[in-house]
Amino acid sequence: MNFKSYIKNNKIVGLSPMDGVTDEAMRLLQAKVAKADVVFTEFVSAEGLSNGGIKLFQKLLYSPNERPIIAQLFGKNPDSFYKSTIILSELGFDGIDINMGCPSKKVSGHGSGAALIDNPQLAIEIIRAVRAGTMDWYQQENLIEKIGLKNKTKQQLDENKKYSNLDKNKKDILTVSVKTRLGTKEITIEKWAEVLIKEEIDLLTIHGRTLRQGYAGLTNWEEIAKVVKMAKNSGVAVWGNGDVFSRQEAVLKIERYGVGGVLIGRKAIGNPWVFEEKERSVSAEERKKIMLEHLEIFQKVFPNRKTDCLRSKFLAYTKGLRNAKQLRKQIVRIETKKDLLKIDFEINDRMGNVDR
Ligand SMILES: Cc1cc2nc3c(=O)[nH]c(=O)nc-3n(C[C@H](O)[C@H](O)[C@H](O)COP(=O)(O)O)c2cc1C
Repeated sequence: MNFKSYIKNNKIVGLSPMDGVTDEAMRLLQAKVAKADVVFTEFVSAEGLSNGGIKLFQKLLYSPNERPIIAQLFGKNPDSFYKSTIILSELGFDGIDINMGCPSKKVSGHGSGAALIDNPQLAIEIIRAVRAGTMDWYQQENLIEKIGLKNKTKQQLDENKKYSNLDKNKKDILTVSVKTRLGTKEITIEKWAEVLIKEEIDLLTIHGRTLRQGYAGLTNWEEIAKVVKMAKNSGVAVWGNGDVFSRQEAVLKIERYGVGGVLIGRKAIGNPWVFEEKERSVSAEERKKIMLEHLEIFQKVFPNRKTDCLRSKFLAYTKGLRNAKQLRKQIVRIETKKDLLKIDFEINDRMGNVDR
């Protein structure tokens, strides 16, 4: 089954894209502990990637056992999206997602991300550029050679392909999707979704809040359900997102609101068990073991990167443990694997842990 039919014919519970979180190390660990039905990369700048930004290729590392995997782009220049699409197609992703929901000033303040909700004409141009890129790459031999990449970028691209162990004979048209919010200042999702559905994208994921809300208030699932109805018979799959804390809860949302899938974001940080079929309380010992694995995988995948960025994730691993406060004090001081090994997690088991 190709990825397009997979989206259409299955109820999906996937890992939401998170910048600085859903990197190759986290996704590898996730695939090992409890596999999500689909995963996304962190978002990557279309302008940066199309200009040959070597560093961005780290965000595009993935392993075959993480599939299906969608790469996410943000930006505002259709030509950059076109070129980036050729690169992502060449890297063998299953789909390309366009970020039209990021509220951060660095992104939406420059006309990308959620700002595109108020610029539907540009949003349409970007979707069409990505669609054209997927089709051209599929139909034309060696298109990657014709988009003017520097030699260094081409070398990096080959290294990523090698890492991902691509099947050279497999060529698929990537799915095109959009991840967005309910509106910018107000809820305008019906008008906005009409534009997106007309573009015949394969998938539309809606985080049930406006840009102005950021993360305040609750996810508005009723508004997401309106889009499910609008998209009926259109061929566009509609997924919901926001505040979901387990696979079981995601399944309930699918049943209740008719969405084709749900993405889980923050609750997956320091909690790869979130995608397990049955919710359970995870022992302190098991959490420590997985934290160690996370550290080891990170060091293997990114040998030149500092491990400081793992601290915030490690803090999340303690959520719900009785002596989380004490553990956190020690975790913020972790410099090496030895430091992590020294921390006595078992004390929790002696005290008994609480639900996450
Ligand atoms: C640290 C962090 C980074 C994020 N980065 C991205 C991103 O790169 N692309 C994106 O579409 N959404 C991003 N998001 C939003 C999440 O994918 C998701 O839409 C949002 O957190 C709501 O879902 P949740 O309540 O399950 O976390 C990010 C969220 C967080 C907390």
